Amino acid sequence: MSDLAKRVLIAKTHGQLNHELPIMFYAPWEADKRELWSAWLADTKVPKALRKNLGLYIHVPYCTQVCSFCYLEKRLLDGTVPSFMDVLIDEIDHMAPLFNDTPFRTVYLGGGTPGALTVAQLDRLFTRLQDAFNVRSLAEFSLETDLPSLTEDKLRCYQAHGLTRLSVGLQNLDPSVLAQNNRLHQYDIEGKMALLEKYRFRDLNLDVIMGIPGSHLENLERTITGALSIKPTRISLYTFNPYDGYDFDYSDEAAVSELVENRRAQQALAKRLIHAAEDSGQLGEQDNLQLDDTMRLHSPLLGLGPSANNRMPFHGYYKNVDSVAYLEDSRRITGWKSNGPDEELEFHVYNSLIRSIPIDLRQSRALLNRLPSEIHAAVVDRLGDHLRFEDGRLVRNLQNDVQMHLALLRGLNVTRNNLHMIDFPESLEGLDEDRLLDVLIGY
Ligand SMILES: C[S@@+](CC[C@H](N)C(=O)[O-])C[C@H]1O[C@@H](n2cnc3c(N)ncnc32)[C@H](O)[C@@H]1O
Ligand code: SF4
Repeated sequence: MSDLAKRVLIAKTHGQLNHELPIMFYAPWEADKRELWSAWLADTKVPKALRKNLGLYIHVPYCTQVCSFCYLEKRLLDGTVPSFMDVLIDEIDHMAPLFNDTPFRTVYLGGGTPGALTVAQLDRLFTRLQDAFNVRSLAEFSLETDLPSLTEDKLRCYQAHGLTRLSVGLQNLDPSVLAQNNRLHQYDIEGKMALLEKYRFRDLNLDVIMGIPGSHLENLERTITGALSIKPTRISLYTFNPYDGYDFDYSDEAAVSELVENRRAQQALAKRLIHAAEDSGQLGEQDNLQLDDTMRLHSPLLGLGPSANNRMPFHGYYKNVDSVAYLEDSRRITGWKSNGPDEELEFHVYNSLIRSIPIDLRQSRALLNRLPSEIHAAVVDRLGDHLRFEDGRLVRNLQNDVQMHLALLRGLNVTRNNLHMIDFPESLEGLDEDRLLDVLIGY
């Protein structure tokens, strides 16, 4: 199996966000963000259709308190926020003229916790965005917040600026679990939930995390039931992955098996509850359009703020500097220059295989101006038996699926100690654990 495939799986096992995966493919490259975007916008080889899916992602790294389980690019809300706001506004002013009046399809403010900014700071940011960019006909305008940061003032501000989607981190509604993970917990949980019922958005997503210290089946069930009671459109489930640097002793076999068992049991319960809610029509489909676009449609994404991803299809994938460096120089960007659409398409194919997302090659044909047969030839060359094509649609060849994943896992030096790090693809989930260990150990 190729290095490419191994890297995808390694990234996945370390719990990185899936939309960060593409940056792993390319040779590091440092450049000026404005120059890169201006070259991309001027390149006539980039199909016009691609530009229709232009997204804007803004990363706000600040949080009122830093949760011990969190692997994201975040920092404590401190005295640097006013300078950050100035740098971010300056970045908007620096980049926006390049886009002229090009309409954006989605705007997503993620973090960190953008909802932890003050209402005045949020209002200033939204106003500047709406003046600088063409965000007049967005398909989705989304913001991430934690529950304690919600206030009536902020909710009114979100509605006044036309937000269509709120994504709210509940994680676990038991205050003692939150306290154990250094997450804010001394606040009126019921009062904040009632605010979410009062101020409705087209889409309301609630994040729940499974497997963090102190969480168990009972408090997870109460969390999901509590979440469902305020009628969200979606509940997103996360499974805790101890990241590099997290205080966890991997050589402690008892601790490892407890974590693994706890996570498995919680995943099973959560899936059952969520599926029941989906079946009864209480929950809708995935509602994060920006994520869907960037995963499926080779879509461009302008990233502002520290560590934000920038995706320029046909040119490459880039990441802004981290939140410390950003305050000094927001114009530098490090990234991965792509060798062109073939390589990018391969990524999408891999990614769809691993995450069970089908790719519609007819869409690729329209977007990339290449025949399905050409695309077919390129990807089959690399992936061979693991693919099947039906009416121009690429689907996984389920017969080979388990074999493929096992082949991938063999290359990862999996041992009893790090087995729990692997987020098994669904196709492996039914596999008898002893057989899995037999296959994995001993390489
Ligand atoms: C930016 S946060 C959500 C918004 C807000 N900061 C909050 O915490 O409520 C994105 C999500 O990543 C998930 N997450 C954080 N650390 C994680 C970890 N180590 N493993 C798995 N998921 C994690 C959490 O469930 C969190 O809701
Ligand atoms: S509030 Fe959200 S982003 Fe901040 S540390 Fe906690 S989980 Fe991470």
